[in-house]
Amino acid sequence: MKVMVIGGGGREHAIIRSIKKNPAVEEIFALPGNGGIALDATCVDVAAKDIDGIVRFAVENKIDYAVVAPDDPLVLGAVDKLNEVGVPCFGPDAKAAIIEGSKGFAKDLMRRYGIPTAKYEIFTEKEPALAYLKQGSFPIVIKADGLALGKGVVIAATFEEASAAINDMMTKKVFGDSGNTVVIEEFLQGPEVSVLCFTDGKTIAPMVSSMDHKRALDFDQGLNTGGMGTVAPNPYYTKEIADRCMKEIFLPTIAAMNKEGRTFKGCLYFGLMLTANGPKVIEYNCRFGDPETQVVLPLLKSDLLTVMQACTNGTLASQKVEFEDKNACCVIMASKGYPQAYQKGFEITLPNDELIFVAGAKKQDGKLVTSGGRVLGVTAVAGSLKEAIAAAYEKVKSVRFENAYYRKDIGQRALKAKEE
Ligand code: AMP
Ligand code: GLY
Repeated sequence: MKVMVIGGGGREHAIIRSIKKNPAVEEIFALPGNGGIALDATCVDVAAKDIDGIVRFAVENKIDYAVVAPDDPLVLGAVDKLNEVGVPCFGPDAKAAIIEGSKGFAKDLMRRYGIPTAKYEIFTEKEPALAYLKQGSFPIVIKADGLALGKGVVIAATFEEASAAINDMMTKKVFGDSGNTVVIEEFLQGPEVSVLCFTDGKTIAPMVSSMDHKRALDFDQGLNTGGMGTVAPNPYYTKEIADRCMKEIFLPTIAAMNKEGRTFKGCLYFGLMLTANGPKVIEYNCRFGDPETQVVLPLLKSDLLTVMQACTNGTLASQKVEFEDKNACCVIMASKGYPQAYQKGFEITLPNDELIFVAGAKKQDGKLVTSGGRVLGVTAVAGSLKEAIAAAYEKVKSVRFENAYYRKDIGQRALKAKEE
């Protein structure tokens, strides 16, 4: 079987490593992949947003199954186009991917179907948005409607900050067309939990929960990033909360998407906040999270490709989706300066380890060199969270590249929560 994975980050590396375990897989292609993924798959120089290029490659190479991992190609309809030429895919079609592609759509969906989320209003003009802010309480949250590389959310402490954010999005267009529409929403508080779920549009199978660490610096200081580390499971996500989320959020979301004629198949990611008034949806993503995937998949006991195919074929109800009763910790090693300017091109030395996932690195003159902000994710699995954290940091010591930066406190908040 020939499998193609679209994307080129740590998430895709983790997906490829898991898919490789299926004995039916003869060859895996990564479009575009990266220098580290090249050890596990054949990397092809086709960008993840180049839908025509992806379809051409799939046809020419008789691809049997495609996994579309990043948000952009999903929202651009990569799955629709691949299905048209007969390639089965893991991932939602464009109609369903809008759940991430438009925050306004997601908010209206939740309002219509009574799914708990922050109170909000949607604006397509600047003046009414500013007028609304004048009556708002602060902090308040401003979100660009469309995809913005994870940067389209501003938590504004004052009216001045909020109006500056509106100005950036709607007038200066710092996120391009993604900011033509903005969502202004109530600021919520509480621990955050990421829950990735497999779904075939009928059955929903939550994966082990996880906790992201979004800020660049220790103790959740500094700028927002794509994620500096993760642990799984998330200790705040108790069995009782999980049951409540299934009833109040997960099943209603699947049913709502079906009602709208937008059946979602693939990985639906629920970004949740556990507020004093119960769990609420902060965001939906139409894909696996990164770096969540780098702790979730190493704990998956069932065969990933088989589960993915069950999502595609509508047979998830009869498919076991089981996780190890263990803990995982992933520490992201980044280029110093990320998420702002950073230098790249430094040689990386790393051990041969199935749980080190490469993101921003490329092959140059036979060497692996840094080429991005988040360079790689170092994951360890152990019986306890404490041991998983210690093992991940121990492994970090064996990875070297100039200007390496990583947070020293990944998992500490989770550890504290366990002790409480
Ligand atoms: P997002 O890009 O939607 O994941 O948002 C980035 C981060 O902003 C989230 O992980 C939250 O920490 C924070 N955030 C988003 N919406 C809210 C909200 N309504 N209240 C408080 N924090 C929020
Ligand atoms: N780690 C957050 C995301 O993948 O969106």
